[in-house]
Amino acid sequence: MCGIVGYVGEREALPIILESLKRIEYRGYDSCGVFVLGDGEPKLHKDAGTIDDLKENLIGSEYKGKVAIGHTRWATHGAPSKRNAHPHLDGKGEIAVVHNGIIENYQLIKEELLSLGCKFVSETDTEVIPHLINLSLKKKALPKKPGSGKFDQQTFKKSLIKNAIELKEAVKEALTRLNGSYAIIVAEKGFDGLVAARKESPLIIGVGDRENFIASDVPAVLEQTNRIIYLEEGDLAVVKKDSIYIENGGAEVRREERLIPWTIEDAEKGGYEHFMLKEIHEEPRAIMDTLRGYLMEDEIKFGIDFRGEVEGKGKDILMVACGTSYYATLCGKHIIENLAKVPVQVGLASEFNYSNFVLDGTKIIAMAITQSGETADTLMALKKAKRYGSKTVALTNVLGSSVTRIADDTIYMRVGPEIGVAATKSFIAQLVIFYLLGLLLAKKPESELVEYLEELKRMPQIAQMVLDEEDTDIQMHARYLAKYEHAFFVGRGVNLPIALEGALKLKEISYIHAEGYAAGELKHGPFALLTKDTPVVVILTHDNVYEKTMGNVKEIKARGSPVIAIAEEGDEEVEKYVDAVIRVPRTSAIFSPIPNTVALHLLAYWTAKERGCEIDKPRNLAKSVTVE
Ligand code: M6R
Repeated sequence: MCGIVGYVGEREALPIILESLKRIEYRGYDSCGVFVLGDGEPKLHKDAGTIDDLKENLIGSEYKGKVAIGHTRWATHGAPSKRNAHPHLDGKGEIAVVHNGIIENYQLIKEELLSLGCKFVSETDTEVIPHLINLSLKKKALPKKPGSGKFDQQTFKKSLIKNAIELKEAVKEALTRLNGSYAIIVAEKGFDGLVAARKESPLIIGVGDRENFIASDVPAVLEQTNRIIYLEEGDLAVVKKDSIYIENGGAEVRREERLIPWTIEDAEKGGYEHFMLKEIHEEPRAIMDTLRGYLMEDEIKFGIDFRGEVEGKGKDILMVACGTSYYATLCGKHIIENLAKVPVQVGLASEFNYSNFVLDGTKIIAMAITQSGETADTLMALKKAKRYGSKTVALTNVLGSSVTRIADDTIYMRVGPEIGVAATKSFIAQLVIFYLLGLLLAKKPESELVEYLEELKRMPQIAQMVLDEEDTDIQMHARYLAKYEHAFFVGRGVNLPIALEGALKLKEISYIHAEGYAAGELKHGPFALLTKDTPVVVILTHDNVYEKTMGNVKEIKARGSPVIAIAEEGDEEVEKYVDAVIRVPRTSAIFSPIPNTVALHLLAYWTAKERGCEIDKPRNLAKSVTVE
């Protein structure tokens, strides 16, 4: 996730661009840059730092111009560095592009462009875009005379009279080559406007008076205007200071201009009341972006030789983590052992650090799973594994965080900053990585693997289907749950960790005492607590233990506790035995943690909301726990 902005108007562009970037720094902050078009040569400046660093370095600069674009980066391809910071340019430095998204087939395009003589300066996927645009522009500048088939530099230079159609068409042609997601803004020397386009990444236009703005998100422009046009999937726009032209599929389209009544703070939350709710709604996107990062043309690539370590050297996997990340590892153990039959040990980091865990590091790949990359217990655990001679891998969401400096290798979740203290989208992204790892190591017939991959690719839609039920089903059940002071969450197998996660989420933000348990374990003690005042949330997936779990439901009902089931569409049987049902789409059992998690995150959120709790900053908690 990155933030992109553009300005075209009558004022000096640079201060406006810097202000806009600052407003959307929450979208990424590992590096940034600007490209300013004025009289003379375009000016480009990039920094491997924050927007404040960029501002500091540009104070008093001669970056004058009325058209500019800017970028604040959350690195995906290529480490955070000045070289990889956006904007990216074509070979001549005349076309500049800022991009948010992931170009899946950039390697193939890059190889092709290299063979045509294009020079690349970064490791990013984005850099192919300005080169492609440049090539399309060149084609249009070719002399039409018969027999003059070769590109002629002189003729090209003469024909370099910029006009909107030319750049727009060149951008359009370039975009036909790209697989993946993008929101882009393109500036070109000599052109008094900007071209913008989007596919699966958000982009808005802020409408001003003899000036217009383009940005990934509303807060970027809200200081300047509250007249907003939301670009839609596949839109391509040519934005000048006094005109906005939008087309889709080759035909001009009209997009409604809306008046946004939000404050800047509202806008940062995307109009949601809390970051947590916004982040739950980003779960489909988190799945998609994490898949995009590591699944290329149906090939899983982490840049780490997991197969060599596991199959070649016969190593097992050890995962250490805390809190929600720990529950993700418990689920990951099920996923990887089921798909790949590779033994996975999991350790609560705070316990692992002082345990007598028998560890032959040379036979282990140790993975630290941590959203923040700063959790003290997890860092210590990884260091311990390292001391024992393990190869170490970090799975984190934060670039350059402490864990990345300890581990031999790092895998990044690609979910953008998570601000709510309750981890949500990062948990989902961790699961996605475990599915990919399981499939990478799986020794299953090719046809079976293809089926798994196809189903995994459908998970963003599955998660979205759960979100679509939020207003009806889930909010109603949350109002019901909110009346109680104690609750149990139960599941089995791959969904036991999801029950643990559901309970943790509920307790940390609603202050209801909630316990996650294996469904079959209640009778070994907790039954003593079951009364009409202790509701039990049961995950009832159609897997090899469905009947057993249903048996547990009947036992619970016999003790008088209300039961809320998380059950699949089409499971009518369940209605007979429970008090309430939250419906989720049916998937293969192995993928059921995805819809079940989204449902439980929503349930926790709406229950806390009903109880009037401080959701984004629950009492006594911090987003990253940097003490033991
Ligand atoms: O940043 P980490 O993933 O290492 O954080 C671990 C836990 O502190 C964290 O998951 C915590 O449990 C969450 N607040 C739960 O929502």
